[in-house]
Amino acid sequence: MRAVAAFLLVLCYLAVTHAWRCSDGPRLSSARQVDAGQGKVIATNSDGYVYFLIGSSWCRMSTIRFNHASIGPAGLWATSTSGNRVYKYIAGNFVVSSGLSMRQVDAGGDSQVVGVTSSSRAYCLRSDYASSYKGSGSLSWSNLSRVLKYISCGKYGCWGTDTSNRIYFTQTLSPTTCGNSRWSQISGSAAMVEVGTDGSVFVVNRSGQLYQRLGISSRYRSGTSWRAVSMRMPVRHVAYDLGNLWVVTTSGLLMKCTH
Ligand SMILES: *[C@@H]1O[C@H](CO)[C@@H](O)[C@H](O)[C@H]1NC(C)=O
Ligand SMILES: *[C@@H]1O[C@H](CO)[C@@H](O)[C@H](O)[C@H]1NC(C)=O
Repeated sequence: MRAVAAFLLVLCYLAVTHAWRCSDGPRLSSARQVDAGQGKVIATNSDGYVYFLIGSSWCRMSTIRFNHASIGPAGLWATSTSGNRVYKYIAGNFVVSSGLSMRQVDAGGDSQVVGVTSSSRAYCLRSDYASSYKGSGSLSWSNLSRVLKYISCGKYGCWGTDTSNRIYFTQTLSPTTCGNSRWSQISGSAAMVEVGTDGSVFVVNRSGQLYQRLGISSRYRSGTSWRAVSMRMPVRHVAYDLGNLWVVTTSGLLMKCTH
């Protein structure tokens, strides 16, 4: 009887905390960054190579070295290690664009691309420009007039962090015009923020602690509070898509977590 009670207590505890269960993901040595969208998962390693997950194997996509790569409704975009140049993946190749240089880009929004420059200025590429870009001509980025070092968009809006690790959110960024307004500061402190295409939000703070935003809905688009997701090791980067939370630790391990 007591065992059953204890078991029920454990079940209850799990149900209440929505604990994430993590295991080593498909092995990628020295992982540095991960992104996931529309069922696809990509990761970069410390050499800057981008890998695509097929089954349980990581397939290298290119010999170009990248700082950051992102996959989502807007396609696959990346920024190069040398010169922060913006690339779009077209017909099996990363094709360099002309236009502004970005340190980080995000393709997870509603078909627009957003990015930040090395001087921490945020920009947006309209959905029609992003989808039709064939690799020629200059990309025309819209200035969001925000100082951000990291930006990510999803179903209910866009999130960013600034150079002082403050967290910001706006629900008004138009994918078709890149018009944006009403950014508000959200409580907490974070080095990076990732938004899943379904609107889920995760942040990593400067000491490598991972948090999930709770209470996000069409009514409360910025959610209500942060909940720590405990990890055995400090976290460098995360991404979330379709029930899978992908975690890269500061030591270069890649983990896959589910509820
Ligand atoms: C973007 O806007 C900011 C002010 O909001 C300005 O300082 C910056 O120069 C602009 N960038 C470009 C490329 O015009
Ligand atoms: C990161 O989170 C930990 C645990 O909550 C906290 O102790 C620490 O102050 C946070 N650091 C920053 C820079 O926010």
